[in-house]
Amino acid sequence: MKVLFATPEIAPWVKTGGLGDVAGALPPALRQAGVDLRVLVPYYPALRIAFPEDKALEVVALGDFGGTFADATLRIARTSNGIPLMLLDCPEYYDRDGNPYLGPDGADWPDNHLRFGLLSRVAAWLGSSANHLPWRPDIVHCHDWQTGLAPAYLKLLPDARARSLITVHNLAFQGLFGPHTLPELALPAHAWGVDGVEFYGHLSFLKAGLIYADAITTVSPTYAVEIQTDEEGMGMAGLLRHRAEELSGIINGIDTEVWNPARDAHIPFAYDIDSIAAKKQNKAALQREVGLAVRDDLPLLGVVSRLTHQKGLDLIAAIERQLAALPAQLVVLGNGDKALEAEFRLLAERHPGQFAVRIGFNESLAHRIEAGADIFLMPSRFEPCGLNQMYSLRYGTPPVVRATGGLADTVVDGVNGFVFREASAEALLAAIRRAAASWRDRKAWQAMQITGMRSDVGWAKPAAQYAALYGKLAQ
Ligand code: ADP
Ligand code: GLC
Repeated sequence: MKVLFATPEIAPWVKTGGLGDVAGALPPALRQAGVDLRVLVPYYPALRIAFPEDKALEVVALGDFGGTFADATLRIARTSNGIPLMLLDCPEYYDRDGNPYLGPDGADWPDNHLRFGLLSRVAAWLGSSANHLPWRPDIVHCHDWQTGLAPAYLKLLPDARARSLITVHNLAFQGLFGPHTLPELALPAHAWGVDGVEFYGHLSFLKAGLIYADAITTVSPTYAVEIQTDEEGMGMAGLLRHRAEELSGIINGIDTEVWNPARDAHIPFAYDIDSIAAKKQNKAALQREVGLAVRDDLPLLGVVSRLTHQKGLDLIAAIERQLAALPAQLVVLGNGDKALEAEFRLLAERHPGQFAVRIGFNESLAHRIEAGADIFLMPSRFEPCGLNQMYSLRYGTPPVVRATGGLADTVVDGVNGFVFREASAEALLAAIRRAAASWRDRKAWQAMQITGMRSDVGWAKPAAQYAALYGKLAQ
């Protein structure tokens, strides 16, 4: 079975969040499960450096796709772990520094519809009889809105052959553009409408995917249920209920090589279940690194997150005084919403030595927070899956999470972490208090750490579920 994995990000080269991690780690697991898989991803600057032009195994010219798309070529390369990459080379669209979605001013790139429309269009082309390469996928596996038009092209074009699957990593990002983009994207006029790509007067890439894909998955069983409710369905609940038969949840795994405290080059002191005590040394090193008082008598709470409404971090800011009085230390690494960034900066200024805040994206520090913190916080309002709670389990850093989406599916209250229900500052504080009390009970705490570190959070099981779904789709 041949599968094309079409993605706008891929770790370790291009990552803005969990989708990058998933695209880095799921393909190798799928290859291990026997799937003949290739990854299609834009040829961003970081990939140009990692896989230079002159090292590409093969270069394929692409024809004219109509609309207002720029010319592009495909460069085929291979990662060190043997994953064939199809690098979509269109310098005009992708050879830009910085974030894949945002310009230096923090606003969306104005041509995102063409940039990700082209990615979708090429994914569909690969799955069509127009593809003259020896390799043609039976299934095109799309991820989020950025590849959401691929299923539409596959349904609307006469020469399409492949079946399609879309995985929703986050229903909040819907890929909305004005109606003028329809002809620019070479979509037929009849695709405009409630049964097509139109969503309240906009063209929605995500809705297109949900309408036209042969199957839909999302990244946890609980989120698959939640998004069918009007409260959590972000305007798409009716459509998702309509497609309930083809919708399922497959929980994410994590890359257990990259996130392995026994062999993590980012952390100063390696440890495993038999040497959890080394967490203490990682804690002291982290406290020094971020300017906290080096104390082992206070629990250190850790956060690594996009700073957005979704993640509920305003609830942490709201209990500033109570956390300071608990007393607990806090280290926050994140970026995103400017108001939240400013709020956290102030919080750190008001509590020097007790609260530390690093604004920015720092992969290496993220590892040291997982290793050095005692307790990890994820008070998300919604969370399709969440990866950091799983990194925390593996690093012996019991997470405090809200019972939503994948957090509810991976954390069991009192067993490997702490779970609270209501999205309120009081409920979060009560859960943190419970966690802090439990932390002082060294024996019980260690038992909880070991349970977490032993949990099976790898990709083998989820990859087998995807492989089974591909098999069903290809029939
Ligand atoms: P989401 O994809 O919604 O942001 P996930 O928990 O699935 O949430 O994945 C987030 C990923 O991005 C994790 O690997 C996390 O460590 C990483 N991450 C988020 N913010 C930062 C940051 N500021 N610096 C470093 N890594 C970050
Ligand atoms: C999204 C979600 C997150 C999930 C990630 C990877 O960004 O917000 O919950 O873990 O995708 O699937």
